[in-house]
Amino acid sequence: MKIVKTVEEVRQEVKAWRKEGLTVGLVPTMGFLHEGHKSLIDRAVAENDRVVVSDFVNPTQFGAGEDLESYPRDLSRDAELCREAGASLLFNPEPEEMYAQDACTMVDMSGDLTTELCGRTRPIHFRGVCTVVSKLFNIVAPDRAYFGQKDAQQLAVIRRMVRDLNFDIEIVGCPIIREEDGLAKSSRNTYLNSEERKAALVLSRAVAKGRAMAEAGEKDADKIVAEMTDCINQEPLARIDYVKAVNAETIVPVSVMEPPVLMAMAVYVGKTRLIDNFIYKG
Ligand code: PAJ
Repeated sequence: MKIVKTVEEVRQEVKAWRKEGLTVGLVPTMGFLHEGHKSLIDRAVAENDRVVVSDFVNPTQFGAGEDLESYPRDLSRDAELCREAGASLLFNPEPEEMYAQDACTMVDMSGDLTTELCGRTRPIHFRGVCTVVSKLFNIVAPDRAYFGQKDAQQLAVIRRMVRDLNFDIEIVGCPIIREEDGLAKSSRNTYLNSEERKAALVLSRAVAKGRAMAEAGEKDADKIVAEMTDCINQEPLARIDYVKAVNAETIVPVSVMEPPVLMAMAVYVGKTRLIDNFIYKG
């Protein structure tokens, strides 16, 4: 596996693969890789001849006062995980390589897809995600790109962007990977102290409760949201940002459990903002 830092090197590698008629998968990440990321890489390796993993903490998707500077980084560990999983190329650019100093083009999306849920607390977040993912799509030009259901809104946003901008790329959504006790794996879990780590279990507990209600036939989405909210509020270290039912494809809020419904939440545990969700497919 090669580790490269420039757009030019990625292009040369991919060009050589294309000459041989090989297929290419892309797994975009911000690094500090864990088994959630690994599940995407495994799937990409299984479905493509060559896999590119990008490892880039993208500054344009962080708002003022967010954790851009403190976001955890460990390139050598990431490289080891990618190599073992069978990736062919790790792309780890510096911010200056990705963004010219006078860059002034962004990929923006209007409407509920980017203003609901995480878009309320993080108004510029999805513009940064769409911009960097478009750039990665243009740099790598993969056949397929892999995204986790953990960031369900991001997945819906990317699917819409690919449709709207005619990217010739298949978007593959992959299930949420959890710790044994249920906590969804996240690079940000490293911020939690041991007390907060225990408290963080309210998210997956609320997800389990909501899912059980939905599967038992509860059609009133507000009732499910209320139960999940109650569950989270029982944990003193947890503070709800949102718990909401939306259409999984359009992110438009819903009050009836008409599939596909995304039940999504963001919860602060101490200072750390965690997300979790489930999709009710009927
Ligand atoms: P990052 O948070 O590093 O996540 C990279 C990919 O891994 C995303 O598609 C995310 O949904 C997936 N992922 C993270 N934790 C997961 C888990 N527990 N189970 C399954 N998949 C999981 O998401 C980003 O980076 C960035 O926004 C990015 C798309 C790279 C653009 O900068």
